[in-house]
Amino acid sequence: MMGLGFLKTATFQPPAPLGLREGIVADVAAKYGPVGDLAPLFAQHRGEGVDKWHHYLPLYERYLGPWRGRPLRFLEIGVFKGGSLEMWRKYFGPEAVIYGIDIDPTCARFDGRDGQVRIGSQDDRAFLGRVIDEMGGVDVVLDDGSHVMAHLRATLAALFPRLSQGGTYIVEDLHTAYWPQYGGGTGPENFYSTVRAMIDDMHHWYHDGAFAHPATAGQVTGIHIHDSMVVLEKGTPYRPVRSIVGGNIDGADLAQTTSAEGKASR
Ligand SMILES: C[S@@+](CC[C@H](N)C(=O)[O-])C[C@H]1O[C@@H](n2cnc3c(N)ncnc32)[C@H](O)[C@@H]1O
Repeated sequence: MMGLGFLKTATFQPPAPLGLREGIVADVAAKYGPVGDLAPLFAQHRGEGVDKWHHYLPLYERYLGPWRGRPLRFLEIGVFKGGSLEMWRKYFGPEAVIYGIDIDPTCARFDGRDGQVRIGSQDDRAFLGRVIDEMGGVDVVLDDGSHVMAHLRATLAALFPRLSQGGTYIVEDLHTAYWPQYGGGTGPENFYSTVRAMIDDMHHWYHDGAFAHPATAGQVTGIHIHDSMVVLEKGTPYRPVRSIVGGNIDGADLAQTTSAEGKASR
């Protein structure tokens, strides 16, 4: 009779270690659910260098996926080694208008490859204005530039008013919000203080305070906070309306509609 010793070796072989590329996709799948197209696209990328945290990949998919295949106007702040523009071109398709800006003049070598590259600083309002004029407007901004607090705020103030209705504004690598060398910390200097101001502005129906962040006030319909990433949705924030329907009372259906109350009238 055959012994069962062979099973030991056959069954308990440790799995072969995954290669780097398979490991990226496996990590995203294991931790963040459906992988989508971007994680494999990133993992299989073989062109110029591109540097992304794994958990950003499904977040991009969630917020930027709906823009795919449309003639969107996309601006990435921070070109670096040029690989992210290559990745975005593959992801968004040929119809997208893709621009990258960087303070490093050597990034000009990527101009015209997968998108247009313009050289300048993200805290230079006039420069940003010229780039957006050239793009014919902007639907998506991805701020992956200096990650310096003052720059994040200056860029947001300059670009958010130029973002189209329904547009998406992403700021990433916000771990720097806690790092003094980037102007961050745990006080009001932290970029999340600005985000808090935007949250308060979005809820202005319910309190008496003045708008705290005029550059975005009255234009934000959604604020999403993830590890090191903030996503802002631009749109018209309508006064909230609430209805109660059903609830059979004394044989008659109840239907009631009320609006959010104005400031100082709670
Ligand atoms: C994190 S890298 C960008 C990575 C790239 N987006 C990617 O995904 O591979 C940051 C880039 O921002 C650029 N940068 C730094 N300060 C800047 C500023 N004030 N304005 C514009 N770009 C800046 C740097 O030169 C660098 O290339």
